[in-house]
Amino acid sequence: MIGKIHKQMSHDSWLFSKMATPEYTPFVFLLLLFQSSVWGVPVCQTPQESPTCGYKSCHATKPGMLNVHLVPHTHDDVGWLKTVDQYFYGDRNDIQHAGVQYILDSVVDQLLKNPDRRFIYVETAFFYRWWKQQTDDMQNTVKQLVNEGRLEFVNGGWCMSDEATTHYSAVIDQMTMGLRFLNDTFGHCGRPRVAWHIDPFGHAREHASMFAQMGYDGFFFGRLDYQDRNRRMVAREQEMLWRASESLTPPMADLFTGILPNGYNPPEGFCWDQSCDDPPIRDDPDLEDYNVDDVVTRFLHIAHGQALVYKTNHIIMTMGSDFQYENANLWYKNLDKLIRYVNQMQSNGSEVNVLYSTPSCYLQELHRANLTWPLKGDDFFPYADSAHDFWTGYFTSRPALKRYERISNSYLQTCKQLEVLGGPISRKGPFGAGDSETLKKAMAVAQHHDAVSGTEKQHVANDYARKLANGWAHCQVLVSNTLSSLSGSSAPRVYCEHLNISVCPLTETMNVYNPLARPVSWPVRLPVNGTAYSISDAKGKVVPVSQATAAVRQGRGYAVNELLFQVQAPPLGYSTYSVSLLQNGPPSPPSPLPRAPKAVQNKVWVLWYNASDGNNSESIQMSGAYIFRPNTSTPFIISKTAKIETLQNSVVQEVRQWFSPWVSQVVRLYTDSRALELEWTVGPVPIGDDLGKEVISRLDSSINSSGVFYTDSNGREVLQRRKDYRPTWNLRQSEPIAGNYYPINSRAYIKDDKDQLTVVTDRSQGGGSIQDGSLEIMLHRRLLYDDVRGVGEPLNETSDIYPEGLVVRGRHLLSLSPPATAADTHRPLAQEVVLQPSSMDFEKEFSGLQAVLPPAVHLLTVSQWDQDTVLLRLEHQYQASESKEHSQPVTVNLQKLFSTLDVLGVSEMNLSANQWKDEMTRLDWKAESGTHHTGVTNQLCLLSPLGRMKTADLL
Ligand SMILES: *[C@@H]1O[C@H](CO)[C@@H](O)[C@H](O)[C@H]1NC(C)=O
Ligand SMILES: *[C@@H]1O[C@H](CO)[C@@H](O)[C@H](O)[C@H]1NC(C)=O
Ligand SMILES: *[C@@H]1O[C@H](CO)[C@@H](O)[C@H](O)[C@H]1NC(C)=O
Ligand SMILES: *[C@@H]1O[C@H](CO)[C@@H](O)[C@H](O)[C@H]1NC(C)=O
Ligand SMILES: [Zn+2]
Repeated sequence: MIGKIHKQMSHDSWLFSKMATPEYTPFVFLLLLFQSSVWGVPVCQTPQESPTCGYKSCHATKPGMLNVHLVPHTHDDVGWLKTVDQYFYGDRNDIQHAGVQYILDSVVDQLLKNPDRRFIYVETAFFYRWWKQQTDDMQNTVKQLVNEGRLEFVNGGWCMSDEATTHYSAVIDQMTMGLRFLNDTFGHCGRPRVAWHIDPFGHAREHASMFAQMGYDGFFFGRLDYQDRNRRMVAREQEMLWRASESLTPPMADLFTGILPNGYNPPEGFCWDQSCDDPPIRDDPDLEDYNVDDVVTRFLHIAHGQALVYKTNHIIMTMGSDFQYENANLWYKNLDKLIRYVNQMQSNGSEVNVLYSTPSCYLQELHRANLTWPLKGDDFFPYADSAHDFWTGYFTSRPALKRYERISNSYLQTCKQLEVLGGPISRKGPFGAGDSETLKKAMAVAQHHDAVSGTEKQHVANDYARKLANGWAHCQVLVSNTLSSLSGSSAPRVYCEHLNISVCPLTETMNVYNPLARPVSWPVRLPVNGTAYSISDAKGKVVPVSQATAAVRQGRGYAVNELLFQVQAPPLGYSTYSVSLLQNGPPSPPSPLPRAPKAVQNKVWVLWYNASDGNNSESIQMSGAYIFRPNTSTPFIISKTAKIETLQNSVVQEVRQWFSPWVSQVVRLYTDSRALELEWTVGPVPIGDDLGKEVISRLDSSINSSGVFYTDSNGREVLQRRKDYRPTWNLRQSEPIAGNYYPINSRAYIKDDKDQLTVVTDRSQGGGSIQDGSLEIMLHRRLLYDDVRGVGEPLNETSDIYPEGLVVRGRHLLSLSPPATAADTHRPLAQEVVLQPSSMDFEKEFSGLQAVLPPAVHLLTVSQWDQDTVLLRLEHQYQASESKEHSQPVTVNLQKLFSTLDVLGVSEMNLSANQWKDEMTRLDWKAESGTHHTGVTNQLCLLSPLGRMKTADLL
């Protein structure tokens, strides 16, 4: 619905230009496009009768008293021990008793019984499934509950995303999908005011920044390092203002953040779910075991204790937990009584007031308190719940799923772009009915904190992968339809999904689609049997398939050679290469390889840590899906000597290193490439010695890194990390390796005055810098014990193709540059890995853009919104002062952006596209001054003098 752009309509064509500043904020627009259909003048919807949802619907509190906000809630994992669908229906209750459909049925029923009652719901993936099955009557009833603030959505994304292993573009997409459903269904009363990440295992600064830009007023979570929590309790700093960007001008990325008192569980003794054993309130004095006095006393004791570690006379209690409220009567019946009996004591002088509440009602009271709050500048990684229990293993757990999720994100962006460029024929064309919706949903589910994180059971991981594969299939039809419409040919399309292991049907034409808004050059390797080929517009070279690749294919392809060539593809477009065989026969012997670049020569090792099996004097904690705990701080080197094969031609130089039957590596340098490629292949990890293993790649350099290294946050801004140090408290380090691991989503680096060594990864991984000049990244893990955090299985991955243990292959791209210009290389490099070209066949060159976007601007989203509108996100991708050349304001002309679409109007929205930008207002919070110790160097300190951009500057 385009309500805001009528005044621009009279212009047939006009120039819209937008300045993106290095404040690094994405601009989100709805573009009204001229496609085939005639566009009528949009009518502004008159607002419905004004409902009393949101802050207006909160129960009154008592100013002079301690107000206890009881928040009834359920935590419904979008897959974990059971698949998302099993959880919805309550199937496989033998694994875990949990059925979300019954929870929603029961809660709605109980909310209707007493208008004072409140409930919050979080995961739109489940709510959407339930809603579709309700009658009109029930839907109207639920709308009324929402309009009266009795049922309130918090967070509201499709799932509660993981924060350590997700990429910001996929998080924004999944939030957009959930929030759009809520707005479409409930209008403004469906818009959550509060972000709610009660379970993720550590918290990323980029998530906080995104939530701020999505318009949330506050954020609550449950898990943080136990030392950090203890200090914050004593200092009453469990509620704070998180300044989540070093580039955005405050308060753009400021987010009020609160730590919940008891994870997300009820206080001890007060769990009244059917899954709990706490005594119900027995309030008939004529019956045995009357316990009202006891319950009230215990409750007052807990409330007073909790008030000591928070700042205001309001405290919050989370009354619920995993999959609770399936029989909501139990909870509500006892909560009604608790409120009545505790508040009755006020006539005897008690100063405690209990009420049904929601996180936003609690937040409103904190805001009314008009206090100043401590400022937080770094993030909440790594998370340890005890001295030897660092949740840093899941940064790497299930590396194959993590890669599949990342490449699926890239394919989804391609699919959405081609849906826009192809128009309606993309969804119904010569190849049948295609859609982007299936992959959107599969990707949204995959962002859940037990999905891409790798902390689910094996059968659930298989289900996530199956859902993604199904999404790919739907997108492939869409893509084929668009291609045939753009090219006028309906020849069948061939997709190469296993090029990384040299398995692909042989084709005579090779096509590459580039989802980036700038041209890219990309190396392609096609499996072939011939020894010489001619390629239109490119020089190709044939090299033999390596021993490692032949082994990894496991009978899925038999080509003996690979044809290598560099392809160029236009922005948002295709190019085509036709390949023809010139010669069959044995390949000419490869010439010896010249030295690899100095800085990394002989300094890349593959090593492993033996996983702790719990047999240890300090702690019985084992390594598992969540937790990384090596049993010694010195890793073992796989082999000091490698069987080496080298080759060199005009396209590439390679050193192929075979360290052992389960570890090999190719050090590869393409001609004209900006980075050295390390292609690692690890597995099956041997377990014959009954020890789990955590395999790392370590780069040792002479860079004087002084205990400091840098990692990205969800693929966006970069944070400084310092060994055995946390910016906000005095760390007692108890795990010298695991306690120094951080999530790496797309890149990490070390540097000194002269050099910066950057590693760009192709998926999320964990890593650290344990010695100066050294950077290690965990590649693969195979573990024999469960780490007792709930998943109940050892992380011991096998598959049909690899019954002896999963084999995983991936790439690291290394670049060495002077620190001042390093970002100019690693930003575009990381982006090319995240949004990588996909190859498919197509007959001519085509670009969806009229002009290349400036290098500082990234086209984050192009996606069909409704029939005549397209959602567009543009971001300035450089942090302030990160690059001399690119951390500058730039201007983009939207009117002349697309080659096949006319832009008729533009409307700006918030980051999650569920609010018009000019309607976006957030609560403002005051920060204490002088409490901002991020421990960063001057170089990374404050930024941009430029203020916020005005909406729409029409020229
Ligand atoms: C909030 O506190 C400030 C002082 O810090 C005071 O000037 C202001 O009037 C207060 N606002 C309200 C609404 O109480
Ligand atoms: C290459 O030759 C092998 C037999 O050596 C055959 O199995 C395979 O199908 C051929 N592959 C291609 C791509 O021609
Ligand atoms: C790990 O997987 C292998 C291969 O399936 C199996 O033989 C072994 O028993 C498993 N070990 C554990 C501890 O699960
Ligand atoms: C949200 O929904 C309302 C009611 O349907 C609609 O008027 C409004 O335009 C929607 N907001 C956005 C940003 O789409
Ligand atoms: Zn969870």
